[in-house]
Amino acid sequence: GAPVEVDISDLAPGQMKTVEWRGKPVWVLRRTPEMIAELPKLDSKLADPKSQRNPDEFTPEYARNETRSIKPEYLVAIGICTHLGCSPTTKLQAGPQPSLPDDWQGGFLCPCHGSIFDVAGRVYKNVPAPDNLPVPRHMYLSDTKLVIG
Ligand code: FES
Repeated sequence: GAPVEVDISDLAPGQMKTVEWRGKPVWVLRRTPEMIAELPKLDSKLADPKSQRNPDEFTPEYARNETRSIKPEYLVAIGICTHLGCSPTTKLQAGPQPSLPDDWQGGFLCPCHGSIFDVAGRVYKNVPAPDNLPVPRHMYLSDTKLVIG
């Protein structure tokens, strides 16, 4: 599949867009400073907080960090659950919500069997999904342009 260019100039903090790459949905989320600040505090609740499992499959080298990204502000991840391939829904708002932990800090919920992921696509412990959401190969062409693939 050909690489896909994404214009991110219109993304406000807290907003997300989905683009298609190789027939898969790729999410680009512009994280707020609050979201970024929460990430290190979640490690003890996550199955693979440092993205050490199957890194060649799930996390390119430049994204093997706390935010799983090149720029802390932007998450780029494939929006397909690593359990059985459903599409997780966005639950970006922090705070109590049905079927999420009481201290929810924002992220994604898979409607099929309840797997949950943080705003870095990192999977929580004790859910069916075994791995973090994959980060596709990507790079920045400029401050407002990203290429995936
Ligand atoms: Fe997502 Fe099963 S497919 S939890």
